[in-house]
Amino acid sequence: MERKAMFFICAMLALLSTVAPAKTLVVYYSYTNNCHDIMTTLTSQITADVLRIQPVDKTLKYEANGYALGTQLLNAINAAPNNAASYPAIDPVSITLSDYQTIIIITPLWWSQMAAIMQTYLFNYGSQMAGKNIGLIVSSAHSNINKVVTDCKRLVPNGNYFNKNLWINNSNRSERSSLIQSWLTDINYQHTSSISNVRVSAPSSIYDLNGHILTQEPLKGIFIKDGKKIIK
Ligand SMILES: Cc1cc2nc3c(=O)[nH]c(=O)nc-3n(C[C@H](O)[C@H](O)[C@H](O)COP(=O)(O)O)c2cc1C
Repeated sequence: MERKAMFFICAMLALLSTVAPAKTLVVYYSYTNNCHDIMTTLTSQITADVLRIQPVDKTLKYEANGYALGTQLLNAINAAPNNAASYPAIDPVSITLSDYQTIIIITPLWWSQMAAIMQTYLFNYGSQMAGKNIGLIVSSAHSNINKVVTDCKRLVPNGNYFNKNLWINNSNRSERSSLIQSWLTDINYQHTSSISNVRVSAPSSIYDLNGHILTQEPLKGIFIKDGKKIIK
């Protein structure tokens, strides 16, 4: 009985040692706090670190004069999207993206595009998100989010995008908690954060039936390898 218990514990330890920590980063920008509220609701449902992007100049009124400044910022980006000088300045960020496997971006829509401030962040860091799971949540008053998705894919071209984006607008904002919950289910969030991060296990995760680590695979007998029982 004792030996069986030991065997079980070793097998579980061997299995656990193959799973990488799957940290999630939620990165967002918010001018009138709708995206901030979405972030708060999302992080009440998942475990994640949070990064808020802020423009250097926090006094600007993007909506003033018929949204003139918002329009001007997007026009500058659209005229020269590969030029760093086209993007509005943001505060420095101190997040190490290599610590994260999944990144959920929450952004407002401006004139059907991604808000200029979030574009700056993704222009600067999108290349470091290659191969990571990318989730996109967009908040608008009513406009559809297709062009925001296009902006995101231009700025994070090698992201491993979830199969569905989430659009929250004026008419469904009050239901955001259930919308987020359904979206997490639809993208198989739990599955992604555990299974896709399985590392190739180290050759040393081989045990005998007494739970002792073996330095190499036995030529014959019964042993545990990568959490599986092998009979040779
Ligand atoms: C400069 C600017 C342009 C906008 N353009 C649009 C638009 O074209 N269509 C739309 O439905 N909402 C538009 N909005 C509204 C925002 O997308 C919406 O209020 C969003 O929820 C804001 O998120 P936030 O509160 O996190 O900043 C615009 C807002 C701003 C500031």
